[in-house]
Amino acid sequence: MKGMTVANKTVTITDNESGKSWTYPKMSGSTGPDVVDIRKFYADTGMFTFDPGFTSTGSCESKITYIDGDKGVLLHRGYAIEELAENCNFEEVAYLMLNGELPNEAQKDKFEHDLTYHTMLHEQVHSFYSGFRRDAHPMAVMCGAVGALSAFYHDSLDINNPEHRKIASYRLIAKIPTIAAWAFKYSIGQPFMYPRNDLGYAENFLHMMYATPCEDYQVNPILAKAMDRILILHADHEQNASTSTVRLAGSSGANPFACIAAGIASLWGPAHGGANEAVLNMLKEIGSKDKIGEFVKRAKDKNDTFRLMGFGHRVYKNYDPRARIMSRTCHEVLVELGIKDNALLDIAMELERIALEDDYFIQKKLYPNVDFYSGIIFQAMGIPVTMFTPLFALARTTGWIAQWNEMIEDPQNKIGRPRQLYTGQTVRKYVPLKKRK
Ligand code: ACO
Repeated sequence: MKGMTVANKTVTITDNESGKSWTYPKMSGSTGPDVVDIRKFYADTGMFTFDPGFTSTGSCESKITYIDGDKGVLLHRGYAIEELAENCNFEEVAYLMLNGELPNEAQKDKFEHDLTYHTMLHEQVHSFYSGFRRDAHPMAVMCGAVGALSAFYHDSLDINNPEHRKIASYRLIAKIPTIAAWAFKYSIGQPFMYPRNDLGYAENFLHMMYATPCEDYQVNPILAKAMDRILILHADHEQNASTSTVRLAGSSGANPFACIAAGIASLWGPAHGGANEAVLNMLKEIGSKDKIGEFVKRAKDKNDTFRLMGFGHRVYKNYDPRARIMSRTCHEVLVELGIKDNALLDIAMELERIALEDDYFIQKKLYPNVDFYSGIIFQAMGIPVTMFTPLFALARTTGWIAQWNEMIEDPQNKIGRPRQLYTGQTVRKYVPLKKRK
């Protein structure tokens, strides 16, 4: 369904200064809030709208992901995240993102086969890694390696050709686990492990992370299942900062590998994908349950910049549905690994209990988000803190590339070019260097 303009649904804006009024159509999607179509606003009024952080701005039409933040609902192509996480593997969800429908058995087999045959990196990519310091953050390495892939697939890639876009999409989804695992291997000085075509997506990633050429390594199926679920939970999340970055970069017709590298850069920040790393650091800093009150107090203090990491979300003003699944998965993983007492999990659960009963958090509708429990699972699985955000990037590549494809196919697509409210100096006379005070 295309965004529909309904004849009798309009919004009239009146400028009290001039007394003039302008009427704009409202558009309805298949569900969710209506939008006001202000595309002609500047031409009509000579004014811009002002919306830093885009809290009230729809930047595109999309059919991929729907979030109802007040109800805590997340749908991909109409399917609830809970059902996808429970019943699908990551490859099926990736297929769904790209194609709009879940695959049948034959389509699933073919998709998995096709992805598998793009998992290897060009051998030349090896040498990029050695250009980085061993202690470089893996997000910096991933950003560099993915951006560098644009050099391998540039002249041969016509983004207006659907078949070329499909191959680029498969390449990105298939190669990103190899890129992430190699960033880890490089940081610990171990040899890179090549992908194995007999393993599933999550399983193969764990193999490349933990196997060495010296001995046989069996991936624990429960951990592979948990990793698969974590990847599904992070696969897409509508027009968030990194996805909007990918779309904005791509709106100029840029190479998709370079656009995904831009998405990785945006995801890295602690207010976005870097939060899972920040949560674990915060739990360690809290250290014991008796210190929680002190940290909650700090989070509420207007004069303190400290925030409870893993709490709050721009869109969810209710429990993030992914956090619920993540909390359950966290318990399953700890049981599988025979970890009975986990001090950080105890602190996290107590912190959640206290915050959810606290007036400040209730009034501001601050609930745990997807990152709150993911760090504890990753740590239990032996994944180092610096790899938390790379894992998020790995999963989100599917959403980014699905959104990029949707944008390129959209006949309404234009280069993204926001305007501004200029508050700097107005025109003034140039002063020669020697006369400046
Ligand atoms: N701890 C304490 N107070 C908070 C928190 C928090 N985690 N989050 C928001 N608030 C308060 C703010 O101080 C603000 O209070 P005010 O109205 O009195 O000024 C109010 O709640 C609204 O906060 P904003 O920052 O305006 O909300 P916004 O929607 O812009 O921010 C964000 C959302 C960035 C996620 C924020 O909640 C935050 O910083 N959380 C911690 C970081 C985090 O967990 N990020 C992961 C997000 S999920 C993801 O990217 C996968």
